[in-house]
Amino acid sequence: MSAGPRERIAPKRRPGRRLAAAADPGAGGIDAPTDSIRIRTRALTKRYDDLVAVDRLDLEVHAGEIFGLLGQNGAGKTTTILMLLGLTEPTAGEARVVGLDPTRGPLEVKRRVGYMPDSVGFYGTMTGRQNLRYTARLNRIERTVAEDTIDEVLDQVGLTSRADDRVDTYSRGMLQRLGIADALVKDPEVLILDEPTTAIDPLGVVEILDLLRRLVDERGIAILLSSHLLNQVQSVCDRIGIFAAGRLIGQGSMAQLAARFGEGAGHLEVGIETTGTDEAERARAVLSEVAGVARVTAGSRAGDPWNVIIDADADPAAMRAVILGVVAEQDLALASIRAVQPSLEDIYRKAVARPGDHAGAVAGHGSASEGGPS
Ligand SMILES: Nc1ncnc2c1ncn2[C@@H]1O[C@H](COP(=O)(O)OP(=O)(O)OP(=O)(O)O)[C@@H](O)[C@H]1O
Ligand SMILES: [Mg+2]
Repeated sequence: MSAGPRERIAPKRRPGRRLAAAADPGAGGIDAPTDSIRIRTRALTKRYDDLVAVDRLDLEVHAGEIFGLLGQNGAGKTTTILMLLGLTEPTAGEARVVGLDPTRGPLEVKRRVGYMPDSVGFYGTMTGRQNLRYTARLNRIERTVAEDTIDEVLDQVGLTSRADDRVDTYSRGMLQRLGIADALVKDPEVLILDEPTTAIDPLGVVEILDLLRRLVDERGIAILLSSHLLNQVQSVCDRIGIFAAGRLIGQGSMAQLAARFGEGAGHLEVGIETTGTDEAERARAVLSEVAGVARVTAGSRAGDPWNVIIDADADPAAMRAVILGVVAEQDLALASIRAVQPSLEDIYRKAVARPGDHAGAVAGHGSASEGGPS
């Protein structure tokens, strides 16, 4: 693999831009001008007979951000993406991608948007490079420009050394890398990636996520990706939309989602050296008595730190200071203390389990042709 993916990406035509907060998705019509919005949907809906695959989706993705669509199998992620690309017609509602209606102008949308489907299709008897040339030709990219771009994107996805091998000799991860390269050939303003890293090895994933981050920061493109790999979504996405049974039940930054769904999930890990069971029990009792501590649970193995779950309205930094004081006062031997933020997994569990926020059981949705959410 080449060293390419870690090199900086030269800014192209768009300045990078990070947005502090997204605009209120309810404000204005679908065509209300907002300079930085690259993808916008209003009440976007897709039904298959009785099944509501996507239910009145309001979504906004801005230039300079990575938005992650998260949801279980059958939640509606791919269906949403297909509607954004004009590959399937919405039953109701509207979408704009780079300001265009994908149902009316699917070709123009495809020219300006890089798309990697959940299963990539290439010509097996052609090499990776030849496949990319084919894509470049379809997109009417001038030959000399295309050759440079192809070299660059092959390098970015770490495929340079295999670029001239036939695609039918590629591994699954190589195909996925080629899929990302293919989406990048047209230097897109928007990148839509459906499960982009499922087949890529762990170090390769880090490189690919790094690459996406740099494309966003240095070229200001907008990326929408779908995934059920929580760690990856948490690590790379600026904002996350949690999908369940066709509905977006929560969206925002990790901090916003944690505030909404993560109550009680924030905790401190407090390691205390003890000589025996009695002292361990004393340590637990001391920690439990601290004002602002909701409960104390043992780690999974003997000697693991205590998990000190703090009240939802307690500030972890302040609680850390209070616990340090109490531990010293009670003459306990502190080995470690650290604040643990709620993980996306904690948030996701709470979000999909919360009654009333979305109709129907999430697990039943994928197979339930007889009943989507009402
Ligand atoms: N062509 C179709 N005809 C009928 N039902 C469909 C069709 N395509 C998708 N569905 C249904 O729509 C729902 C949403 O499917 P979708 O593929 O969007 O889910 P997803 O979130 O992408 O899931 P996964 O994580 O498995 O990729 C599912 O219940 C699925 O069975
Ligand atoms: Mg899918």
